[in-house]
Amino acid sequence: MLQFKTIIEPFRIKSVESIKFTEREERATALAQAGYNVFLLRGEDVLIDLLTDSGTGAMSAAQWGAIMQGDETYAGSRSFYRFRDVVQDLTGFRHVIPTHQGRAAERILFHSVLKPGDVVPNNNHFDTTRANVEVEQAEARDLVIPEGRVPSQVHPFKGNVDLAALEWTLAQDGGRVPLVMVTVTNNTGGGQPVSLENLRGVRRLCDRFQKPFFLDACRFAENAWFVKTREPGLSGRTPKEIAREMFSLADGCTMSAKKDGLANIGGFLALNDDAWAERCRNLLILTEGFPTYGGLAGYDLEAVARGLEEVVEEPYLHYRIRSIEYLHERLVAAGVQVIQPAGGHAVYIDARALLSHIPPREYPGIALVNALYVEAGIRGVEIGSVMFGRQPDGSEKSPAMDLVRLAIPRRVYTQSHIDYVAEAVIGVAAIKHELRGFRITKAPAVLRHFTAQFEPLAA
Ligand SMILES: Cc1ncc(COP(=O)(O)O)c(C=O)c1O
Repeated sequence: MLQFKTIIEPFRIKSVESIKFTEREERATALAQAGYNVFLLRGEDVLIDLLTDSGTGAMSAAQWGAIMQGDETYAGSRSFYRFRDVVQDLTGFRHVIPTHQGRAAERILFHSVLKPGDVVPNNNHFDTTRANVEVEQAEARDLVIPEGRVPSQVHPFKGNVDLAALEWTLAQDGGRVPLVMVTVTNNTGGGQPVSLENLRGVRRLCDRFQKPFFLDACRFAENAWFVKTREPGLSGRTPKEIAREMFSLADGCTMSAKKDGLANIGGFLALNDDAWAERCRNLLILTEGFPTYGGLAGYDLEAVARGLEEVVEEPYLHYRIRSIEYLHERLVAAGVQVIQPAGGHAVYIDARALLSHIPPREYPGIALVNALYVEAGIRGVEIGSVMFGRQPDGSEKSPAMDLVRLAIPRRVYTQSHIDYVAEAVIGVAAIKHELRGFRITKAPAVLRHFTAQFEPLAA
């Protein structure tokens, strides 16, 4: 029997969307007009868009078919019950509350259960999660293992929670901890997975200190694949069985279905506690909508329900994780500095190391993002001194890293697109000494990376 090494895309393409080819000159002009901030480009001027993996995936024919089955009944829609059944089958949680995306689930949960001075431990809070904790005047405390903080360190489960640190937090500040969260995979830490063993450790501590345990489950299926392929003794289990076990260890979850829901919009909050669920539903009605649609159309609920079934299919996850690893391997082989090991949804380039002639205050991440766009029409995102450098008092402090994230949308690009991306990054790395830093000319006080304007510094 032939043994194949090539892992192919597990789909045929039935419908295509053209991408626009532009000349270097046109891209340079477009970028200058956008104030050298790729967020301000028109999407159609981008050839390969790796800005985010959120809501940018391709839906299957079955999802589009399900959309036509959408029931737009205001209360008690058939599509809600289908959605609820799929979520319950996967997670086992008693209450399923649809929301328009992940941050709405976070806001509803935190506004319902946090009070000023509370502490929410997590491996790493994603930025909206942190913001939704902090807006309640509570503290978002990151407790990822030390290996998770070192970009060059290889570890199979770099998203794991430091259990000793969690135990310390629960022992010292337990009275102020209404719930413990774990993000799977850990987006802020590079899309790195959390092991089942670690989740069991979190569960034990939550039992001992009597705390509810919630997953931020946006990329639960990618996490399940890493568990299957990396955690001893689990290779024989299906991703769905592993995902179910992950959820069975928790008391609830927040979910952005724009990632592992394989949908363009949607999310949910799911939980077991009746009293918390009632509070959350009441708040949902105020801001999102009736509890059987939560800000979504009936057809969105259908698309998410079908997406949650497809995302745990082995051929899909095999291809998904391998395609990220493939880009990562090509960059490593060419000597481009990247976060180790490859994450589940993105490759993170260490722009500070690659462009060591550009100091953090001159934004090496922006220099690299802009060069990738001008040279190759690729859009990535800076995660570094622009995103995190401005302090609440207005001063500047460079964060630990200046990264450029290339996030891969699900089922959108083929291997030749990824080959092109690798060639482009390697090509830009070869001319790195021609790249210059940038200066901010205009920026809002908060979340400045979205709208800041820049100016290239002279050679
Ligand atoms: C780990 C994590 N949590 C929460 C969210 C928020 O989800 P949404 O963008 O759907 O509001 C994201 C989005 O990127 C995420 O990566």
